[in-house]
Amino acid sequence: MRILSGIQPSGKLHIGNYFGMMRSMIDNMDKSDLFAFIVDLHALTSVHDRQRLATGTLEAATDFLALGLDPERCTFWVQSDVPEVTELAWILSTLTPMGLLERCHSYKDKIAKGVAASHGLFAYPVLMAADILIFQADKVPVGKDQKQHLEVARDIAIKFNNTFGETFVVPEPVIDDNLATIPGIDGQKMSKSYDNTIPLFSSQKELKKKVMTIVTDATPVEEPKDPDKCNLYNIYKLFAPADRLAEVHGLYVNGGAMYGKIKLELVDILWEFFREARERREALLADPGQVRDILHKGAVKARSKATETLDLVRDRVGLTY
Ligand code: ADP
Ligand code: TRP
Repeated sequence: MRILSGIQPSGKLHIGNYFGMMRSMIDNMDKSDLFAFIVDLHALTSVHDRQRLATGTLEAATDFLALGLDPERCTFWVQSDVPEVTELAWILSTLTPMGLLERCHSYKDKIAKGVAASHGLFAYPVLMAADILIFQADKVPVGKDQKQHLEVARDIAIKFNNTFGETFVVPEPVIDDNLATIPGIDGQKMSKSYDNTIPLFSSQKELKKKVMTIVTDATPVEEPKDPDKCNLYNIYKLFAPADRLAEVHGLYVNGGAMYGKIKLELVDILWEFFREARERREALLADPGQVRDILHKGAVKARSKATETLDLVRDRVGLTY
């Protein structure tokens, strides 16, 4: 079974990215034919700063490797190193109904956040469909915010298959209900574009600053609180050991939960949780040539699969004479 997913290099990766997508990819390395990539062409819809995009791409790749992605046990590359995907995106766009894209929440949300309403941003889901279909992926692990994009990819695959004959695997999303939307420090969905993240890798000082600003209510310490409604608890529970979590749950329900104390504890837990990855990351950052090399080798592997699908597609649609 082929499992595939991508991540944008548009800012520092955060714990929402980790639980929504990266961890499930890493866990699937030995159980599937895993394809992981950094989607720099997608990031171009919001990043128009050459240095930021280039550095962000290498950093996102470094972070993924540091978290445990093993390039020997998967195919790992940068999207723009496989240009076949843009040709497929064009072909797919010619049979994508406008209405399908007009309904996409992500497009509307990004415009509301100030991202310029470019053609690329509107066509974003078509390129994403091409990413998935060109590799004939069966399953795509993503956070809940990407569910609609997966539906678009499925609709496009079905339409193509009906029009030109069975060509694409119709992919399925993999969304873990418990981790579908990790809240940010302000309680909204954690996202690079909302400036409400807890980054995976930062200095301990920066981490503390972020955690201490997690928004909590003003209920007095001794009063009972609903843990499920507490933003701090919802982040804390992702990392705390089961026995300690049960104790803290008790403090919420019976009264006595001190937000400040729990926050300080969370800083320590987070710092330990990512310690090994942080150390691996330091080593990789000292040797960017090694990361580039891994990505170039991955691109060669990915390109050979992409070319196979694109040749079939060109033939199916009549781009042959
Ligand atoms: P961001 O919203 O921070 O820009 P991306 O769009 O790059 O994140 O998302 C990369 C992956 O991480 C996607 O699969 C996305 O669904 C997942 N993801 C992002 N934020 C969250 C979150 N808060 N909770 C769960 N998954 C998330
Ligand atoms: N749109 C995805 C996101 O913002 C990133 C992405 C691009 C992707 N192409 C993909 C995810 C293909 C899964 C499969 O998170």
